[in-house]
Parts: sequence; C-alpha cells; structure tokens
Amino acid sequence: MSSINRRNFLRSSGSLVIPAVLPLSGLLTSEKKTTSDLPAKPVVKFFGDGEMYEPSDYIRVLQEADKAAAIAKDRYGVGGVVEALEKKFTVLTGKEKAIFMPSGTMANQLALAVLSGNKSKVFVQETSHVYRDEADAGQTVFQKRLMPLAKDETCFTAAQLQKAIDEMSNAEAFNTGIGAVSIENPVRRSDGRMVPLEEIKQIRKYCLEKKIPMHLDGARLYVASAWSGISIKEYSQYFDTVYISLYKYLGASAGAILCGDAAIIDQMTHLIKIHGGSMYGNWTNAAMALHRMEGAEKRFTDAKNLAETLFGVLNKTGFCTVRELTNGTNIYRLQLSKNIDGKNFQSKLNQQYNIRLGRPDANNEVLISVNETLLYQPLENIINAFKDAVV
Ligand SMILES: Cc1ncc(COP(=O)(O)O)c(C=O)c1O
Repeated sequence: MSSINRRNFLRSSGSLVIPAVLPLSGLLTSEKKTTSDLPAKPVVKFFGDGEMYEPSDYIRVLQEADKAAAIAKDRYGVGGVVEALEKKFTVLTGKEKAIFMPSGTMANQLALAVLSGNKSKVFVQETSHVYRDEADAGQTVFQKRLMPLAKDETCFTAAQLQKAIDEMSNAEAFNTGIGAVSIENPVRRSDGRMVPLEEIKQIRKYCLEKKIPMHLDGARLYVASAWSGISIKEYSQYFDTVYISLYKYLGASAGAILCGDAAIIDQMTHLIKIHGGSMYGNWTNAAMALHRMEGAEKRFTDAKNLAETLFGVLNKTGFCTVRELTNGTNIYRLQLSKNIDGKNFQSKLNQQYNIRLGRPDANNEVLISVNETLLYQPLENIINAFKDAVV
C-alpha cells in the first residue's frame, strides 16, 4: 500500500492501531462498493520490529501527539520532551538517570568507555553489534580491546567468561584489568534469540565478585520483555548501564536512551559533545518516542499473543508450518510445503492483501518477524489471505 492509502485508512479508522478483533464487517460494509471505494487494508509487515514511518505519516502522528499534549522543544537535549522522555525511561528501567543520545552506537560506546575507565579490556559477544557492527569504534576511538566470546553463538555463559578471564591471567604478561562486560539482548545476529535470564544472573554474580561493571545493549529490550515475560526493569537491574533504541519500534526516526547511575550518566553530556553528537534540537525524535511509548508494552504483548493464535491456525492447515526459534523472540521460521510456489505466495499476499514478508528461499523457507503491524488487520483476514495465497 502506498503511504498515502495507508494514511487515509488510518485517518478514516480514527486510530493508529486497529484492534485485531475488529470484525471484517467493521472494515467492509454489506453495501456493494467498487474496489476504489473500499478503505485500503493497512500494511501488515512480517519483517522488522515495528513501525518505521514514512515522512508524511511521521508528521501526522507528531501532530496527533502535539494535539494530545503540546510538544515542548529542547535545546541541546536539555528540557522539553527530551527531559520528559528521559524521566519516563528512568521509571521503565528503574535506573537513577537517563540521557538521550543520537544513536545506539554512541550509547554503547560511551557506556563502555565510562564503565571501563582506564582498564582496556571489554568482554563482548562475538555476534554483538558492539563487536561486529560499530566500525571498530571500541578499538580505534576509545582504545578498548574488545574481547569476543562465543563465536557465532547468541551469548557466552558465566563459565565461559570466567574461563576466559582465568586463562588470560596466565597467558598474558601485563595485567591491564578488565573494564567491563557487555551483553546484547536479544541478539540481532542470532535472529533475535535471547540470553536466558538465569545466565545473565550468573554472569552478574561473577562480575559483582570481580567488580566488573556490566552494560546491556537492549536496543530491542521491549521485544525481549514481551517474548520472555520478564519486565524491562527486571532485566535492567542486572546491569550498570542499559541502552534502548528509540527507532526500532518506538516510531522515532533515530535516537537512543542510555540509563544508569547519575555518576555515570552525568558524564555523558560532555562526551556526547566532544564526539560530535550534541544536536541543537532533538525534540522530533523524543516527542515521537514519548508518544509511542504509551501502551507499547501492551501492543507488543498483544502482537505476540495474536501471532501465536495465527501460527497455531496456520500449522493446522497442512500447507505450512511456523516454528519459533530456540530462545527466540519475534522472529519465526515459516516453511511452506514443497508444492507451493513461494514467489507467487509472497507476491499475492503483498499485492492483494497488503501483507508483506520476505521471499521464501530455495527450500521454501523464510524468517518472518512479528511486530505491532500484525494488529492492523483482523486476524480472520490474515488467515484467509494466507489460505488464498497458496493457491
Ligand atoms: C543490537 C543493536 N545495537 C545497537 C545498534 C545501533 O543503533 P544505532 O543505529 O542507533 O546506532 C543496533 C542497530 O541496528 C542494533 O541492532
């Protein structure tokens, strides 16, 4: 659906999120209409973690937010909606302070730099964004030696961390100290798999004994929380600093929040400035995230529950199976029967039903992601669309 059609639909529905239980008759009246009279179906996308607004939708949603509560601007990240957003995140995470940052990369890097102080080693997952996807900032900008553990796996265990640290003291001549341990959860390069809470607790126990501070790359912590049933606050309590993305599912076009003790967060304003991240106005992103935080946890939980119902029904049809991943979150494996034309299936769902997913591979398999757009069409419609698309 074009963003224009979608916008019209959302406007005519009077709501951003259409209840999934809305009966088909709520959208299509019995009165005979031509296709062009009918409200276009909003897009359900089985990829990504949430809404990524087109500019015109972004502006409309911000206007709605402004009408509901006048948006107050910040100045260099001070005051206005930025301050309100930071306060909200302290409540969500249970941390003393929070600070808006222009990117998650900056939040991760500055958190690790401050937590580790003059100690050079930082233990990370080999699959983590910090290790693989931050352009070696840890090594080149912050003079940290990132120590990757658990190659190609979701996370290291407490035992693996302990072993690596024990072995290092024999294997190396100079003890430069271990500055921090970083954990990403859920792990993007592990198809969103989670680090089990029990393992996090064991790692925390060991790190507390060794006085090693811990950072959580919780870019998608809302997702982990919805799928594990463990609150964001509970996850946060095992870490000294926690970063959460503002754009992956909270609607902002960019931005991040870093939470932690005042002693750490108070150092960030200066560091953001000297690394060129201090922007004059941040309110467009902060206002959007603040607006979309309202009810976000419920929307995620509703989407998860609806997905489980949908996949339960699809698994009984015989033409496909949808399986969750071990320790998985919102990413599932959809396997179509061999006799189905996967390409045709994908394009029919897209063109006729505004249901978007990736192209099934040579084995007729594709990973699909659940996000709140699943709530935008009635479940009955989605089930019927899948049934229709296989023929
Ligand atoms: C797990 C994880 N951490 C950090 C980041 C960095 O976020 P940003 O794009 O805001 O720098 C990303 C972005 O993809 C991510 O997936």
